[in-house]
Amino acid sequence: MFKEDLKHNMAAVIEFKDITRTYRLGDEVLNALDNVSCTVQSGEFVAITGPSGSGKSTLANIIGGLDKPTSGTVVVDGQDLSHVRDRQLSDYRNRHIGFVFQSFNLQGTQTALENVMLPLLFARMKPGERKARAKECLEAVGLGDRLKHKPSQLSGGQRQRVAIARALAVKPSIILADEPTGNLDSERGAEILKLLKDLNKQGITLVVITHDMSIARQADRVIQIKDGKIA
Ligand SMILES: Nc1ncnc2c1ncn2[C@@H]1O[C@H](COP(=O)(O)OP(=O)(O)O)[C@@H](O)[C@H]1O
Ligand SMILES: [Mg+2]
Repeated sequence: MFKEDLKHNMAAVIEFKDITRTYRLGDEVLNALDNVSCTVQSGEFVAITGPSGSGKSTLANIIGGLDKPTSGTVVVDGQDLSHVRDRQLSDYRNRHIGFVFQSFNLQGTQTALENVMLPLLFARMKPGERKARAKECLEAVGLGDRLKHKPSQLSGGQRQRVAIARALAVKPSIILADEPTGNLDSERGAEILKLLKDLNKQGITLVVITHDMSIARQADRVIQIKDGKIA
């Protein structure tokens, strides 16, 4: 192996090899992902784009350990996710990945602080430490003065900030954002992207799924998907 190749491989944080994800609905077989191979380097900001239904979320869910491929191998942070048990997969998720979704996915009955504390509960951190860490993360996204607000008492942009704080809480090596600005106006969307980019500059690998070209343009690299294949 060439030295350059070795360096290349060592820095890979996400490696997809021949990933296929098949859905069966009755007699119909649909390849949401069709033999996809790609690599994301540690510290990169990668945008994944493509039309609706092209397989972007399927790809994101496999990277994030929310779903498993039908065939192929996926290695994230040195761990082969294609062959682990569900329990290990959720441990992996809790320790390595920060998720940010289009619809925020916050707990409506809980405060901003409680929402951010939740993943730390799964990580079995002590209550006092959980609270301190959650507060720190909300401060980092500019919401230090909204700790006790519930999602319904926050604007869309603020809700997405809470979701980013929640993603940050576990000190993830990767932030995976699936259409993070999809429910926001363009100004709020730009603020959220700036926040994500700042985190990327601090060393967190950033994968953003988007069909917004103004976001994709800002990425180090764009992976384009069409009909379950890399275009
Ligand atoms: N749970 C599922 N069951 C059956 N088909 C699905 C399921 N999830 C996604 N699909 C199909 O897989 C394809 C890719 O979906 P998805 O990854 O969500 O696309 P995107 O995020 O690019 O819009 C679509 O054709 C979609 O209808
Ligand atoms: Mg999607």
